[in-house]
Amino acid sequence: MAETIVPVPAQWAATAHVDAAAYARLHAQSLADPQAFWAREAGIIDWIRPPSVADASNFNADGFGISWFADGQLNVAANCLDRHLATRANQPAIIWEGDDPGDSRVLSYADLHALTCRIANVLKAQGVRPGDRVILYLPMIPEAAAAMLACARIGAIHAVVFGGFSPEALAGRIQDCGAKIVITADEGLRAGKHVPLKANVDQALEHCPDVAHVLVVRRTGGAVAMQAGRDLYLDELLPRVAATCPPEVMEAESPLFILYTSGSTGKPKGVLHTSGGYLVWAAMTHHYVFDHRPGEVYWCTADIGWVTGHSYGVYGPLANGATSLMFEGVPSHPDHGRFWQIVEKWRVATLYSAPTAIRALMREGEDWVKAHDLSSLRLLGSVGEPINPEAWDWYHRFVGGRRCPIVDTWWQTENGGALITPLPGATALKPGSASLPMFGVEPVLVDGEGRILDGAAQGNLCLARSWPGQMRGIWGEPARFFDAYFSTFPGLYFTGDGCRRDEDGYHWITGRVDDVINVSGHRMGSAEVESALVAHPLVAEAAVVGVAHDLKGQGIYAYVILNAGEEASEALRRELIAWVRREIGPIATPDAIHFAPGLPKTRSGKIMRRILRKIAENDTASLGDTSTLADPTVVEALIDTRPVPA
Ligand code: WTA
Repeated sequence: MAETIVPVPAQWAATAHVDAAAYARLHAQSLADPQAFWAREAGIIDWIRPPSVADASNFNADGFGISWFADGQLNVAANCLDRHLATRANQPAIIWEGDDPGDSRVLSYADLHALTCRIANVLKAQGVRPGDRVILYLPMIPEAAAAMLACARIGAIHAVVFGGFSPEALAGRIQDCGAKIVITADEGLRAGKHVPLKANVDQALEHCPDVAHVLVVRRTGGAVAMQAGRDLYLDELLPRVAATCPPEVMEAESPLFILYTSGSTGKPKGVLHTSGGYLVWAAMTHHYVFDHRPGEVYWCTADIGWVTGHSYGVYGPLANGATSLMFEGVPSHPDHGRFWQIVEKWRVATLYSAPTAIRALMREGEDWVKAHDLSSLRLLGSVGEPINPEAWDWYHRFVGGRRCPIVDTWWQTENGGALITPLPGATALKPGSASLPMFGVEPVLVDGEGRILDGAAQGNLCLARSWPGQMRGIWGEPARFFDAYFSTFPGLYFTGDGCRRDEDGYHWITGRVDDVINVSGHRMGSAEVESALVAHPLVAEAAVVGVAHDLKGQGIYAYVILNAGEEASEALRRELIAWVRREIGPIATPDAIHFAPGLPKTRSGKIMRRILRKIAENDTASLGDTSTLADPTVVEALIDTRPVPA
């Protein structure tokens, strides 16, 4: 197969922060002399007390721990706001584009600073102290970014819960982190539809007696129930507090936020990030990967409910003095030209989006793109899943006019920011490859036995050393952190992804090798969907696998075994789908329900998911060895009961 290579445009090689020679030199230095390298790079942020040490991490069972810049002190919000006031107080920090194209707001750095300080003062007045957890369940509005920064300013730990999650999912997260305060909005607005955020919070709080306060941002003005003594409208409190609030002096390793993400087993993990290393990583990668120039309009389309929204919607760009565009709505409202209309309206220079969105827009045809002036764009980005070459080519050709490099950034919630990615002035692009490691990153491929593979090879993607943006733990479950990431291949961080490395050292992510399903670039654990299904009174057992899906990348395919005597029906199929949506949220919607007579299990009772994946993909010619099954006849029975695709 002929491989396309798109060389670095001459203009980029000449003017970017890093060219090919600089990349090679800096990457080599970052591995050979990390202390010197990081002492310099840590200067991208302002420290109250500069660190005298960099990496003090250990991936081994004895002395295991991750630590960066340990004796440094800083305040993350001061880095994102205060330090810019002298030079860019009036520059837009956030350009907000509402769901309705007629609705927008521009907040300068001075405005965002004042809003953040006021929210911080309200939180303090509600009794929030350093180390307390604050749940944010908000739409994409400037108050969401300000609330994150307000927590950082006073040393509280935010845990943002995506507004698409159900009351049940929200309650689980509130309980897990022990938050006593929730910030939400009356309603969200997406494609003209109202999302009942406050009503969801009310339902969740029926199971969370420890929550004493709910602060409500008035977004739509829709009528919501307000519980006296507990619920307060934020807009009534803000004018009563000062517009300044001194930033708390925080240790580099003080927790900054918790973000829940799905793992291969059990309930979602509360991924914990700390202050100094995380901010250095978010700011440094934002600077190099997006070749950021202060003042340029930069747009990351991710919701702040995901890690991409944290690192590249808020912390990275604001630490670097960028103008970050925040979009409340969806790409298809009011029509399929919305993204391009926004790029044209705000003269966006950098667009960072996801393959699933690109595929959905590609399906609508390029006329929507051509109808807008996209000449302001100079760089494109992609994240969340491997980008298929057709989508890459469409993005490059029609959106980027063949002049904009595409940075395909591979990383994870656990990583804080991009780890394997092209740098636009340094890396020739191969469509579909995330290419080369970021500074300080040492990827290795290992086989099933943990043997390190050299040269061109395919295997399990691991990281051989720590980097500043690495997560520091799982909230409330210290032992699970080691078990989940460091016990499979001793001495290495295991990503859960498969990867091929080609003869040029480029990395091609092949997708998850564990039981995590990547739906539209969002992680969903098989175990979570299974436990939602078995919570239904008629369901005895469930097994869930990912299947290839044209738009979403992967879809959710659920095998369901009903209780003895229960009949499968179309009505029950629909009910189960609605049930999962209610239990977790729309992103967990099963694409197929397979009423199954039994599951393929080994004699020790382990479900053979490999076989379930093959049957789900209708690839029954190559089922492999089924002789170790407790009951091999179940395979035929499963093939016979496959649902007819809708
Ligand atoms: C996948 C999102 C291929 C991968 C930042 C990873 C990707 C999971 C890419 C993390 C990419 C993310 N190419 N695969 N550029 N980016 N992934 O935690 O499987 O939501 O393990 O973080 O998404 O998803 P998460």
